[in-house]
Amino acid sequence: MVLKFHIETFGCQMNVYDSDLVAGILLNNGYVKADSIHKADILFVNTCAIREKAVERVIHKMEQYAHLKLKKGKLKIAGILGCIPQYNSDRLKKELPYIDILCGPDNYDQLPQMISDCLKSKKLQENLDLKKEQNYEDILPFTENTHSAFVTVIRGCNNFCAYCVVPYVRGRERSRSVQSIMTEVKDHVSKSITEITLLGQNVNSYNSDGMNFAQLLNKVSEIDGLRRLRFATSHPKDISDELISVMADNPKVCKHLHLPFQAGSNEVLKRMNRGYTREEYLSKIEKVRKEIPGIALTTDIIVGFPGETDEDFEQTLDVMKRSGFDNSFMFIYSERDLTFAKKNFNDDVPKKVKAERHKRVAELQKQLGIEQIGKDTGSIKEVLVESVSKKRSTEMIGRTDQNRMVIFSRQDGVKEGDYVHVKISRADGVSLFGEIVNLRDGGR
Ligand code: 5AD
Ligand code: SF4
Repeated sequence: MVLKFHIETFGCQMNVYDSDLVAGILLNNGYVKADSIHKADILFVNTCAIREKAVERVIHKMEQYAHLKLKKGKLKIAGILGCIPQYNSDRLKKELPYIDILCGPDNYDQLPQMISDCLKSKKLQENLDLKKEQNYEDILPFTENTHSAFVTVIRGCNNFCAYCVVPYVRGRERSRSVQSIMTEVKDHVSKSITEITLLGQNVNSYNSDGMNFAQLLNKVSEIDGLRRLRFATSHPKDISDELISVMADNPKVCKHLHLPFQAGSNEVLKRMNRGYTREEYLSKIEKVRKEIPGIALTTDIIVGFPGETDEDFEQTLDVMKRSGFDNSFMFIYSERDLTFAKKNFNDDVPKKVKAERHKRVAELQKQLGIEQIGKDTGSIKEVLVESVSKKRSTEMIGRTDQNRMVIFSRQDGVKEGDYVHVKISRADGVSLFGEIVNLRDGGR
């Protein structure tokens, strides 16, 4: 009997990519995709451990799924993949005793073996080795996306920001070979995908086959049929002049930079071990804005890091005002086991103060975001059509080169994956609104 699998993904874009990798591995080994979770024989949940809330959410979800395994009996295997098992497998074993497989981010190629061992022995299979060299070089991920895909180019992180668990659960940095990246991008493009996002916890550290990240962008952009090349995430200390000039000069490289600053005060940045000052960050932003006209910037911010005073926090608001981000991902500090911050600092900012600061950054961001994206009002933008709007079937959603979301009226013949030109009439919240002004510009 052919067993069917279903994968559910929590967390970052790298987890989305990893789930496609797992799908690719399972499909290569004779398993097939289930139409839904209820038709699956094997359920994998790919998880994120970056904040405690993410862990709680997954445990809650798995408790809800328990009946699929225990009562309905259809589900033969339930497994947890990724960062949570790597972070704390003991808790999972204790709180979710029905789980069959725990597999860390470096062991997905072992899953077929783990599944068959589990079916035979009916015992928990656990594989949590961190593998220095693991890059899944020869495995093609399977994606259902028809227009856009992620391609991981570097795994792990060496930065050891004081709050962050990533270096412990995903291990040290290792870059994939240029050849395996090219093969994967070409495979996507041959299936009509025109937009690729190169991923890594810190893509600027990419280094393989004598190529740095800026050079890799140029190389990948040479692939015929590829129209848009994006990347995430960049670390402010590693953004090179070479990268800035590739972004400025290469028309396929999108004019959007995600550049987390995390905190605006030099004292906090130092305790976070971020490796730059607020002045250095702001001068990078200034340079990027000067050399790449029209660039859109987004960021990550943490509020309530240990020892963050009101004055420190005001500096975070100040960096936001000076930088003009389209959008920010704003987080309340969450203490993580294994990290330098947990071992050395007290999580001393009261919950209420953290919540209040979070509210204030969110309010400021809303205002700044509208100002930034509102600058597009009146202009005509090329938009990659992503989908029909879930809210209104008469509307479609797409994105500009700067990664700004655009909502526009549906037009006959326009479908997901097309590029259209939209005249922007207004900005609202985090979206632009407009109407298509000419026909599809042909060839994909
Ligand atoms: N608490 C809160 N936010 C965190 N991040 C990483 N670790 C933590 C933590 N312990 C945030 C950072 C990072 C983003 C992916 O998650 O802002 O850039
Ligand atoms: Fe975590 Fe810092 Fe590495 Fe980002 S750069 S993954 S925040 S340690």
